[in-house]
Amino acid sequence: MAITKRKFDVVIVGAGGAGMRAALQLSEAGLKVAVLSKVFPTRSHTVSAQGGIAASLGNVTEDNWHWHMYDTVKGSDYLGDQDAIEFMCRQANEVVYELEHFGMPFDRLENGKIYQRPFGGQSQHYGGAQATRSCAAADRTGHALLHTLYQRNVSANTQFFIEWMALDLIRDEQGDVLGVTALEMETGEITILQARATLFATGGGGRIFQASTNALINTGDGLGMAARAGIPLEDMEFWQFHPTGVYGVGVLISEAVRGEGGYLLNCEGERFMERYAPNAKDLASRDVVARAMTTEMREGRGCGKESDHLLLKLNHLGSDIIKSRLPGIRELAVKFAHVDPINEPIPVVPTAHYMMGGIPTNYFGQVVAPYKTGPEEIVTGFYAIGECACVSVHGANRLGTNSLLDLVVFGRAAANQIIDDLRGVPHHKPLPRDAGDKTLVRLTRLEKQKSGESVAEVNATLARIMQTYCGVFRFEDMLKKGVDQILEIGKRVERTEIKDKSKVFNTARIEALELDNLKEVAIATMVSAEARCESRGAHARNDFPERDDVKWLKHTLFFSKNNRLDYKPVRLKPLTVESFPPKARTY
Ligand code: FUM
Repeated sequence: MAITKRKFDVVIVGAGGAGMRAALQLSEAGLKVAVLSKVFPTRSHTVSAQGGIAASLGNVTEDNWHWHMYDTVKGSDYLGDQDAIEFMCRQANEVVYELEHFGMPFDRLENGKIYQRPFGGQSQHYGGAQATRSCAAADRTGHALLHTLYQRNVSANTQFFIEWMALDLIRDEQGDVLGVTALEMETGEITILQARATLFATGGGGRIFQASTNALINTGDGLGMAARAGIPLEDMEFWQFHPTGVYGVGVLISEAVRGEGGYLLNCEGERFMERYAPNAKDLASRDVVARAMTTEMREGRGCGKESDHLLLKLNHLGSDIIKSRLPGIRELAVKFAHVDPINEPIPVVPTAHYMMGGIPTNYFGQVVAPYKTGPEEIVTGFYAIGECACVSVHGANRLGTNSLLDLVVFGRAAANQIIDDLRGVPHHKPLPRDAGDKTLVRLTRLEKQKSGESVAEVNATLARIMQTYCGVFRFEDMLKKGVDQILEIGKRVERTEIKDKSKVFNTARIEALELDNLKEVAIATMVSAEARCESRGAHARNDFPERDDVKWLKHTLFFSKNNRLDYKPVRLKPLTVESFPPKARTY
């Protein structure tokens, strides 16, 4: 198969909030930028970030970045790197004002300032009263962000490759990254996109779970490519289950509902969060609320015949607030739960939502991995941002609306770093002779495989295993079984076949290629979860119910080759302020 080659200064994989924020900075600096996306940019998964973007503007209640930083460290259950957290929280106000000046249509307070609403885990005075920190465009903040950034990129001449899927990372003998191979989804043609800098902004991999708020495109592509190229994946045991996915469907019902005053009820009509988190109640951090909900259902206080969901009540907010602040939620509830929340509560369950782990980076977006001479070195030419990266600002549990903040802070920071780094790299490094070989081997296997298993069946089994063995609560025997079964799935993925090859569209090939990535994410998750013998943030084990800072205040590194694990220390030292030492975490 002939492979076309194209050259850019920077190739960005992914056109969500992070990829487009970086692209804008790079294009405006005069660099030749290609952005690849499996979908039209404004349909990237950032569109589903509903409730807001966190920044301590203090428009509604007094606030400052120190409190935001404290909340984020505490929310992360002390696994977040405090230098990166300080970097993010300090820049929050600036990046939000920047978005405002780009034209992002935030809602407004009476006085004309940006509207802010409370979200979980936000406090004033280091754990005191609830803060009001999430800047919102109704319940469509991610949607507004994407449209704003896309328009700015069009005017900055960013070149978009729409409906293109990146397949493999290209590294040379030294391990430097020189670009990617990619598939044009319509034609099936393969191209090498050579770059002086390659930036992954590929989003999460929530489709490893059966029930997920994630879009179908969220198949962990960046992680799969990185893992196959020898880069470890960090902290993959930590997955956030959002408390309010629509029961039976998985679609996200924003935490903004609880921020505006909605609350959860069990089958006895009890506002049970008062028992689990007496101060923050329904606005405790997500891991705490998801565990409380799961406990209620397990103890028979769930709703419905099967005691398998809870109710999110918001009709007391009144139809004016629901229509103006939560119009998208109302629409989703009507369409997917068949209830109008102006009159009735929404049936909800905790649903896989966000991957705290990812490709290890520093806070300039540079990928940091075992490399030429040391265990933690910057990999030349390779950068990662957004959900596919592990900076780590979210540690063991992310606070709501810190995700949009992460995208724009690190999108901009990585772009600035790339601009600096490329000053010293005037030319493209030569491509290795085998630059496209890995990709061709994968494609040839898929074309030639006979009497193999169906991609859809293996995919469904993978998701069932993850859902069953690696959920909100984790059990020793289940994790052990989960590891055996997911490793077996890894082998089965190698034997999948595209049925009726002559008749199928490229979508069938794409699903098969995505499964290669899902497999990497799923194995990394299960193996890392089985190994971490403590409970921290979103990783809750019944056999090790306590956090163990003596043995486990460290990041996990999973290497795909031989499924090997290693660990590295948490960076507890912030940039300029005193660190927040681990202490008991209550809400
Ligand atoms: O609940 C939400 O609106 C989701 C926001 C987030 O995950 O940050």
